Amino acid sequence: MTKATDIPARSTPAPTRVTRRGLLLGGLGAAGVGALAGCDASSPTQDKTVGVPPSSPLTSVPRQRTFATTLTAQPATVDVGGHLMHTWAYGDTLPGRTLRATAGDLLHIAVQNQLPADTTVHWHGVRVRNVADGVPGVTQQPIRPGSTYLYEFTAPDPGTFFFHPHVGVQLDRGLYAPLILDDPHESGGYDHDWVIVLDDWIDGTGTTPDAVLKKLLAGGSMTSHSASSARRSTTSTASSGGMGDMSMGPPPWGDAGDVRYPLYLINGKSPTDPVTFTGRPGQRARIRFINAGSDTIFSVGLDGHRMKVTHTDGHPVRPRDVGALYIGMGERYDVLVTLGDGAFGLFAKPFGKTGHALAVVRTGAGTAPAAGTPPPAQLDRQVLVGSTLQPAAGTRLPARAPDRTVDLILSGQMSPYRWALNGAPYGKNTPISCRPGERLRLNIRNDTMMSHPIHLHGPTFALAETGLRKDTLLLAPMERRAIDLDPAPGNWMIHCHNVYHAEAGMMIVLSCAQ
Ligand code: C2O
Ligand code: CU
Repeated sequence: MTKATDIPARSTPAPTRVTRRGLLLGGLGAAGVGALAGCDASSPTQDKTVGVPPSSPLTSVPRQRTFATTLTAQPATVDVGGHLMHTWAYGDTLPGRTLRATAGDLLHIAVQNQLPADTTVHWHGVRVRNVADGVPGVTQQPIRPGSTYLYEFTAPDPGTFFFHPHVGVQLDRGLYAPLILDDPHESGGYDHDWVIVLDDWIDGTGTTPDAVLKKLLAGGSMTSHSASSARRSTTSTASSGGMGDMSMGPPPWGDAGDVRYPLYLINGKSPTDPVTFTGRPGQRARIRFINAGSDTIFSVGLDGHRMKVTHTDGHPVRPRDVGALYIGMGERYDVLVTLGDGAFGLFAKPFGKTGHALAVVRTGAGTAPAAGTPPPAQLDRQVLVGSTLQPAAGTRLPARAPDRTVDLILSGQMSPYRWALNGAPYGKNTPISCRPGERLRLNIRNDTMMSHPIHLHGPTFALAETGLRKDTLLLAPMERRAIDLDPAPGNWMIHCHNVYHAEAGMMIVLSCAQ
């Protein structure tokens, strides 16, 4: 079966069966095996399998454009604020080069693995066919060091997306890059289109994400917060400032992260060496925010400006005017801004942590904010909680009663560091089953005192209450939400986009029989 990696493989492997052990070794990856070593296929009661579905043929659409490129996952040395950091990246830049295609294109992306470890690429938020979804042991065999894998899929929907590995905690290295799918029917209405990728950075600063995970699993001291959930519940407002305006959503995020990061980055740069975007006063900029962080929720805003939120996770929303918005790991928000005259800080403030990320928007004379300039008060005040957005007309799922209703229960704790979905860590929990053609409702219940961005691969979902479409939903401590979706054939991951939680077990498979 692993022969496929000796030659350039492609996302059309022969049908194969994957054992539960395979799932453990796959999933987000091998680093989690230590944590879950107690549960392997040797237990006869757990001898279930999840099938890797046979590939659906690529249907050729007349006059379909092909977008072809090569990505190289490789060790790289990047300059972050004047410090050279050894990391893993796509190419030699941080983030990797933005891939930009048009919705409806056929994407042919050859991924060369020059890392000293297995890897895969997941096209986060894109409704790919299952075999191109990038989950080792579930939708493909991992890409071995030295080999190349061809991802082929139609990218059906426009929007702001990104891609990253689905192995271990590789996402918390430099392995991420934007994927922008333009809408051929969009009128535009802006002068600039800027992509802002947020990240929490620790790799190459004397440790690695794998070492961080190891410490967390060992109950070590990587945490910036109390290990006790009792103490967690009291921390929220203290660190976040004015969360008073409930019209902007539920009280946020409790204890928001487990890892103390030395740096927060916008487009690979720290505040001492920020990226500068330039324009002219009065111009309109579309800004696409992507949170590629692994353990950090940010609030983002452009000093002195209002932002009109137009999309989340690629889906149009009813425009909402805000001074700042929260963005959880894996989420994306597109906003429109009318630029003032001067030099302005575009800030990203990590929730419940110290430090910030900075970029500069310059339209005229003026001093750019210094690295140490704290984020303005607007990043703490009336910050939009994305799940309170309303869907734009035409984005709703067809009205329909659920054919099947299933619970998705989030649980876990810091000490020992264990996270679970539906009562057990990944590999021990039972895949959620469904059938193509039915409407599935997931009743999500966060039974923890932390926030979790829950991400669903494949078909995107709608909040049952409002119809808002998302692929990543940030749940506050103890929050409950119902979501609806129309499942596609295949095995799709559902997991927390805190990569450490995912690796410690907060994943499950949605298995949708053909
Ligand atoms: Cu971006 Cu399975 O995730
Ligand atoms: Cu989580």
